[in-house]
Amino acid sequence: MFKHHLSMSDNKLFSTYQLGKLQLKNRIVMAPMTRSRAKDNTPDEIVATYYSQRASAGLIITEGTSPSPNGLGYPRIPGIFNEAQIKGWKLVTGAVHKEGGKIFVQLMHTGRVGHQLNLPEGAEVVGPSAKVLSGEMYTDQEGPKSYTPARKMTTQDILQAVNEFAQAAKNAIEAGFDGVEIHGANGYLIEQFINPNVNDRDDEYGGSIENRSKFLLEVTQAVSQAIGADKVGVRLSPYGVFNDTGAFADVDETYVYIAGKLSDLDITYIHIVDHSSMGAPEVSSALKQRLRDAFKGTYVLSGGYDRERAELDLQEERGDLVAFGRPFIANPDFVKRLETQAALSEPDPGTFYTPGEAGYIDYPALDAILSEQAK
Ligand SMILES: Cc1cc2nc3c(=O)[nH]c(=O)nc-3n(C[C@H](O)[C@H](O)[C@H](O)COP(=O)(O)O)c2cc1C
Repeated sequence: MFKHHLSMSDNKLFSTYQLGKLQLKNRIVMAPMTRSRAKDNTPDEIVATYYSQRASAGLIITEGTSPSPNGLGYPRIPGIFNEAQIKGWKLVTGAVHKEGGKIFVQLMHTGRVGHQLNLPEGAEVVGPSAKVLSGEMYTDQEGPKSYTPARKMTTQDILQAVNEFAQAAKNAIEAGFDGVEIHGANGYLIEQFINPNVNDRDDEYGGSIENRSKFLLEVTQAVSQAIGADKVGVRLSPYGVFNDTGAFADVDETYVYIAGKLSDLDITYIHIVDHSSMGAPEVSSALKQRLRDAFKGTYVLSGGYDRERAELDLQEERGDLVAFGRPFIANPDFVKRLETQAALSEPDPGTFYTPGEAGYIDYPALDAILSEQAK
């Protein structure tokens, strides 16, 4: 037998999958992607259109969405902490469910990755330490600016942030989401605690592996208690370098410890980021396997996948679901194109984060492209 020969009959990518109480129609996940279309940090009809166009994914994970006014570090990213935002998200979940899709919201607190100009009045840039990021943050008012130095969080601030995550998860359920993904990756607040290059605390939230993992685990526990662990996933990026994080001495042990603790909390999935396709260091297959072994729930793979590699990794049991990011931007019917092995449209990075409909909801499905060509 040719172990690596894939035919339509033995494909796993298009088979259903039971994620907790949810049945997914395929193993294809739309990866979380910030698109900066939320005016006043509130999703509206165009956001609903964007996600409903992509509802053929087995599971959509939304763009990073802040549980707190303090976590809105980028311009025009959505929140899920007030009534208007819950109302806006209802449009999105309703539109996706109408198309037969499932959708989790990604809870992202940007922490020190922010600028005061991007925050609403009264909010502040906070982080586990006062270490300032290098480089600049875009603002609508004044263009690129140096990062606002974060105020180092007190124990009281940490407790408040944990409570904000739990409340945001409740809001997510009220807004009709099928679950939440806690963003523990890519250098945002939770990873700022995990990573000792950022976290210089000498209290119970800094120093040892246990202490640096404490904030993530407290958030995950609080969110699980709020909405049920079967509706909770966590995204992690070991070896990530985004937002001035980077490798450190005990990175493997840190993430194996975290995967074990998340397993004890009975959450539904972990979602591992490997951004080597975007120039970051690779996450070794040995570490990916150790994380899979340490975590008993669903394992979501991501980073630079195409159909063939996704199918192979599923066949080889390296993961249960595969998340695709960039291909979903320019191919609203990405699942169908994969299924029919059709050509993919290329996304325009120039409109990844710009306001308005262009480069957002105007990418045509293949049927529309073909009928246009036939004219
Ligand atoms: C425009 C854009 C925005 C992104 N925003 C987020 C985000 O909000 N949260 C997150 O966890 N990852 C984010 N990512 C990373 C993607 O989820 C994904 O891991 C990455 O694009 C690699 O997968 P791909 O090779 O399939 O695109 C973003 C990526 C892109 C291209």
